[in-house]
Amino acid sequence: MSNFKSIPVILLLVALAIGLRLDSAAGRNGGHLLNSRCQSCHLADTVDAKNGAVLIASQEKLCVECHANAVRLSHPSGFLPNRILKDQFPRDWKGSLTCSSCHFIHGTGPGLMRSSKRGADFCHECHEPRFFEEMADRGASVLASGHLDARQQSANNDLPLDAFTLQCLGCHSDQEGGDRRVGLRKGGVLQHNSSSMNHPIGVNYAQTSRQGGYRPLELLPAEILLPNGLVGCISCHEGYSIRHGKLVRANAGSALCLTCHDL
Ligand code: HEC
Ligand code: HEC
Ligand code: HEC
Ligand code: HEC
Ligand code: HEC
Ligand code: HEC
Ligand code: HEC
Repeated sequence: MSNFKSIPVILLLVALAIGLRLDSAAGRNGGHLLNSRCQSCHLADTVDAKNGAVLIASQEKLCVECHANAVRLSHPSGFLPNRILKDQFPRDWKGSLTCSSCHFIHGTGPGLMRSSKRGADFCHECHEPRFFEEMADRGASVLASGHLDARQQSANNDLPLDAFTLQCLGCHSDQEGGDRRVGLRKGGVLQHNSSSMNHPIGVNYAQTSRQGGYRPLELLPAEILLPNGLVGCISCHEGYSIRHGKLVRANAGSALCLTCHDL
């Protein structure tokens, strides 16, 4: 019996060893993170398949050191899902859905994904299509990935806009947005359509706040995001949420406005 039990472990080690050889042959010196100091994440002196899940901190903490946006503006991670997930998406030792549920941490494949499916097909591995159909944008803004894309660059040098704002504007600009369109006037003034609320975007918060009338940057709560230091759509709206476009903080009594404005 015990011999049979050890077969999967041996197969895993062989597979790992072959994987490593292929990687170094491809000049990548192994998979993602295999050039790093193992003990910056693992507790064991000699990490193997058996003790690999024993980490010195949660993945949400270990991974954001290099991937700052992978927890905020992203699929929820580091929580106990109250339903069964396919075996393909393993939980961590404490039962949480986490980075390694979707990603092979030391893999080499595209996106380090545990699934070859992409886009809606991937998301439907765990969610019913209805989950997305009921969202205001029918899931359009999130179905592409587990994270908002941070790579878009502003083509407009006069008005620096962050990658996330550019993504929102891609669907909400004057031409495309319908009732939900927002306009961007000269000098970076954003005009909401139905609420008629106008607001400057692309402004550096730290610089502006020094002139008075604003709370110091260090005192802003964590949900107020300022990508590259700039005020953008995700300073006021959640970027990746079951309620598309939800405000980061309810605005009753102008509570959202007064998190930044100190009048
Ligand atoms: C940034 C953090 C980090 C670093 C650095 C790191 N690992 Fe890992 N490793 C992980 C995580 C996270 C898992 C998945 C844990 C789980 O399955 O719950 C993992 C899993 C493993 C596993 C189990 C098999 C597998 O691939 O899932 C092995 C073996 C392993 N790591 C070896 C290493 C070695 C050897 C090093 C150093 C060369 C290393 N790791 C460096 C985070 C890290
Ligand atoms: C020391 C910095 C560092 C840490 C810590 C780190 N990564 Fe990475 N990661 C990188 C770099 C650099 C790349 C891009 C280079 C590459 O593709 O290998 C990358 C790429 C990735 C990719 C995308 C690969 C692709 O092909 O698109 C994923 C997914 C990823 N990391 C997940 C994680 C997870 C999950 C953790 C935590 C267990 C983590 N990373 C921790 C540096 C890091
Ligand atoms: C529900 C599944 C899921 C979870 C959980 C998840 N990711 Fe991802 N992640 C994805 C998908 C899907 C992609 C896009 C891969 C592709 O298309 O190549 C991705 C891409 C990435 C990338 C590369 C592209 C980018 O946007 O930067 C990094 C880095 C990354 N994930 C890190 C993490 C880290 C760190 C965690 C945990 C805090 C995590 N992921 C949790 C699904 C997930
Ligand atoms: C491994 C399973 C798994 C995969 C794959 C997965 N999800 Fe999820 N997702 C969950 C679980 C579990 C929850 C928690 C809520 C629930 O149980 O429905 C969740 C919650 C969410 C939420 C709610 C976030 C909030 O505001 O609370 C969104 C949005 C979401 N997923 C989108 C996606 C998208 C888009 C994809 C594909 C890129 C995806 N999910 C892939 C398991 C998964
Ligand atoms: C892929 C296209 C797409 C992207 C990207 C996108 N949206 Fe939307 N959004 C929509 C659609 C479609 C609607 C629904 C329009 C309607 O009801 O007429 C919508 C609706 C909204 C609403 C109104 C929600 C409601 O309940 O009425 C808000 C607020 C919003 N979006 C904000 C944002 C923000 C902020 C971003 C960037 C983080 C963003 N959107 C990115 C397509 C998108
Ligand atoms: C300073 C805060 C702030 C910023 C920045 C901001 N919004 Fe809004 N947005 C709001 C508030 C407040 C509402 C009204 C929400 C409500 O009544 O529930 C709103 C409503 C919306 C609506 C609903 C339709 C409407 O016209 O009222 C859309 C769509 C929207 N915002 C998109 C965006 C986009 C896209 C960006 C970035 C280009 C953005 N917002 C930037 C605060 C902001
Ligand atoms: C993320 C922080 C933040 C939030 C939240 C915020 N503001 Fe602002 N607001 C600013 C900054 C920074 C400026 C200064 C821009 C400049 O000087 O160009 C500004 C400027 C303005 C202005 C232009 C007047 C002036 O003196 O420049 C108005 C009006 C305004 N905000 C109203 C609002 C309202 C109404 C809300 C709530 C719906 C709100 N703001 C929420 C940061 C914020």
